[in-house]
Amino acid sequence: MAKFCFVIHPLSFEDVVRYEPGAKGKGRPIIAKIMEWMPSWAAAHVTGIRTPDGRETEGWFVAAGLLPQQMLELPRERVYDRILKAIEIGAELGAQVAGLGAFTGVVGDGGVTIAQRAPIPVTTGNSLTIAAGVRSLFRGADEMGVDAQRATAVVVGATGSIGAACVELIAPHVAHVILVARNETRLRKFSEGLRERLPCESSFTTDISEAVQRADLVLTATSSTQDVIEPEDLRTGAVVCELSLPHDVSRRVAVERPDVLVVEGGNLRVPGEMKWWRVREPGVPFDMGLPVGTALACMSETMVLALEDRCESFTLGRGIELDRVREIDALAAKNGFELADMRAFDLPISREQIARTRAAAEERRAASA
Ligand SMILES: NC(=O)c1ccc[n+]([C@@H]2O[C@H](COP(=O)([O-])OP(=O)(O)OC[C@H]3O[C@@H](n4cnc5c(N)ncnc54)[C@H](OP(=O)(O)O)[C@@H]3O)[C@@H](O)[C@H]2O)c1
Repeated sequence: MAKFCFVIHPLSFEDVVRYEPGAKGKGRPIIAKIMEWMPSWAAAHVTGIRTPDGRETEGWFVAAGLLPQQMLELPRERVYDRILKAIEIGAELGAQVAGLGAFTGVVGDGGVTIAQRAPIPVTTGNSLTIAAGVRSLFRGADEMGVDAQRATAVVVGATGSIGAACVELIAPHVAHVILVARNETRLRKFSEGLRERLPCESSFTTDISEAVQRADLVLTATSSTQDVIEPEDLRTGAVVCELSLPHDVSRRVAVERPDVLVVEGGNLRVPGEMKWWRVREPGVPFDMGLPVGTALACMSETMVLALEDRCESFTLGRGIELDRVREIDALAAKNGFELADMRAFDLPISREQIARTRAAAEERRAASA
């Protein structure tokens, strides 16, 4: 089978310490300066991915160590260069296909330029992220007893690579979909172009709070580096599927809204006994804050392409075709990948917690009736 590499970067200062424990105790400005100049490096060796029919692959996580804000603010060419260096390191280690994690797939044109310049094919992994995200949203709706056919859904980041396809996949299952982004001109054009094709009511707004206040279901996939979903905006008993990395949902929601179910939508359980090992300290596990055996959906897309010997630039740019999403979703299932257990705010969501969330929603509804 082919081998893969996946470009990662720290989403926060806490992540920097996870990647490189030596950074612990150093001040944030110093860490940010070091990350700005630190060359890309091979962070982890990924082993043990094995399909039910016995095919195996291995790969590497290669860090392009910029923080999200730096990815957006540093000169584009410098950021591309850092990402390309990471892919070159992966190719030298033996990878034949590369995936772009988090903002490395957002910056600029969503992977198109990077794929043109890279020594091996490149995918953003967004097709499988879209499939996993939409499944997670409706799994959450089932758990919370939301009648999706009568529900209003909001997609925040609706003009983006991930958001746009999510709108189309969600629309057949709900009564109304509201599209949200900041750039009104682009949002209006996108929304009007899509309206005729959508099998449900649709509208658009740049006012996130106003949209979220009307939503039973929320899917969020923005490139924001700040919180965009606040507890005071959420409707009683709402379900929020979070795809953005770094996250969009304020941590205050966990504390202040016990009646709302938030789920991280982009996590998949990987077949076999996957392990992540620190390259610089052989035998020491590498921690990315995910449960053992679980990978992000974008990583999983890269793994599936390797397992299928499909070394191609499968997903790039904005305007992702739904056929691509369905194809990689089917290939992932064939190779034994499945939705991971529900999780939010770095913790698993237990059955008891779901029952408590439903009860809190009923109580709040009764109190306001
Ligand atoms: N979980 C996973 O496995 C996984 C995989 C891949 C990517 N991701 C994450 O998914 C997110 C989206 O990626 P993408 O490739 O779809 O990005 P993208 O193509 O750049 O789209 C971003 C979207 O968010 C909107 N947006 C940005 N800032 C916003 C704000 N403050 N409020 C409201 N809307 C805002 C943008 O429109 P405007 O600029 O007009 O606002 C656009 O619609 C990123 O955080 C990425 O890291 C997750």
